[in-house]
Amino acid sequence: MTQLSLSTSAAAKAKTDALVVGVTSGANGLSLAAGAAEVDAALGGQLLSILRTVGATGKPGELTKIGDAGATRATVIVTVGLGPAPLAGEPYAAERLRTAAGAATRSLIGTESASLALPGDTAEETIAVVEGALLGAYAFNRYRTREGAAKEPVGTVTVHSPKARDKYVRAGTERAEALVAGVLLARDLVNTPASDLHPADFADISLTTLKGVSGVTVEVLDEAALARDGYGGIVGVGQGSVHPPRLVRISYSPARARRDAKRALPHLALVGKGITFDSGGLSIKTADGMTTMKCDMSGAAAVLGAVLAVARTRVDLRLTAYACLAENMPSGTAIRPSDVLTMYGGRTVEVLNTDAEGRLVLGDGIARASEDKPDLIVDVATLTGACMIALGERTAGVMSTRDSARDLVVAAAGRAGEQVWPLPLPEEMRSKLESGIADTTNVGNRYGGALTAGLFLSDFVGPDLEWVHMDIAGPAFTDKPFGYTSRGGTGFAVRTLVALAEDLASRTT
Ligand code: BES
Ligand code: MN
Ligand code: ZN
Repeated sequence: MTQLSLSTSAAAKAKTDALVVGVTSGANGLSLAAGAAEVDAALGGQLLSILRTVGATGKPGELTKIGDAGATRATVIVTVGLGPAPLAGEPYAAERLRTAAGAATRSLIGTESASLALPGDTAEETIAVVEGALLGAYAFNRYRTREGAAKEPVGTVTVHSPKARDKYVRAGTERAEALVAGVLLARDLVNTPASDLHPADFADISLTTLKGVSGVTVEVLDEAALARDGYGGIVGVGQGSVHPPRLVRISYSPARARRDAKRALPHLALVGKGITFDSGGLSIKTADGMTTMKCDMSGAAAVLGAVLAVARTRVDLRLTAYACLAENMPSGTAIRPSDVLTMYGGRTVEVLNTDAEGRLVLGDGIARASEDKPDLIVDVATLTGACMIALGERTAGVMSTRDSARDLVVAAAGRAGEQVWPLPLPEEMRSKLESGIADTTNVGNRYGGALTAGLFLSDFVGPDLEWVHMDIAGPAFTDKPFGYTSRGGTGFAVRTLVALAEDLASRTT
């Protein structure tokens, strides 16, 4: 990961490859953002007029590179647009700073060092710049050779801020580093092609990544154990592939010294969809529909990334995470449309469409997670194309049979800077899932597909337990980079899950 340091010294005097400052747009046109004054002074007060000459407007994410004719010690000056300036005395919204800092570092791929002089008059602003800068400094180079011009993310980033020595900023920076490590782990896993990330590989990476992390234990169920224990959904989906399924169970609890002795630790359970490749199975997808389906384990990747970040920052709660891993392939051993599976816990499912496989592996995972009797279960899944039809490519759908539980996740996502939106689970739609021969089918009709999927999952939640479903089919993967998000796997949901864990840990009731 990129080296990050904080500095109270003047960015204009820093020896660096790229000096990054912010500009705003708005009623007064292009203006300099907080942090840019010293750089402007070094340029003899000419920064704005230079930028106007080259057509900069200050709109969010706009990047402009200019030379400085030797006025600073930087090779290049990069300005990044922040959009309209906040009202006098108001701080910048955290997400705007993350986006701007990340757009800058992302554009500086292949550069050795960068110094950021973005708004940082408050601790929160400075932490947001740190987080965004780290999120933007990512490249997936595993399959690029040196000849193919693999470019490394920016090597060292210095964030210049008057708050650089503030103890909240130091703590926030440590948290950001752990959080971003979780996000980048999830991106790496999603970006890895299915030929190099079979269910057993995901399980091995879980073991090696979490080895030696304090308070964490990892158990892996292989195909024999899954069959023995009745995980009919995971076994059924996985049976068409020569690469057998796995269930990874991770548990974290903080070291005793951290615990508040006066209360029981809150217990959060996470369940991630881990389809390492979704061909659709015998209900096979179209060629186009399959091209991005290595991303179908994004939920499991997010869950693993979140556990890593929560354990590294020693959040004060119990966390149990499940990665439900299978490859959905058509073959002579694959499940057929009309087959009936007996899920973990005994519910039977008539599989009418083998491409609705995510809910089958998650049903097992949610039923298993329910046995631990956690205070809240959150499942995360690239579950339905219908959710993308409803909310687009960048917003996740959040569903629950209990509005108060759903609102906890929506609030956490807001703080984390991830776009989510509530979708309903209308009771009358349950009848769409009625089967002629089993307890339920796995598909409804063409209307409200994200909701029938959510309703299907709700039946696997244990009695009196709280549960929230996140459908991340849209935001898990992107063809086009934007802000701090690179092309490919985005690591979506890691930050929401970590924020949620923190919220539960600090809840006093
Ligand atoms: N993994 C897909 C959903 C998906 C689609 C994720 C596009 C990301 C991008 C899921 O397994 C699936 O195939 N869902 C079907 C369900 C249908 C058969 C009821 C879908 O959405 O078409
Ligand atoms: Mn599918
Ligand atoms: Zn799928």
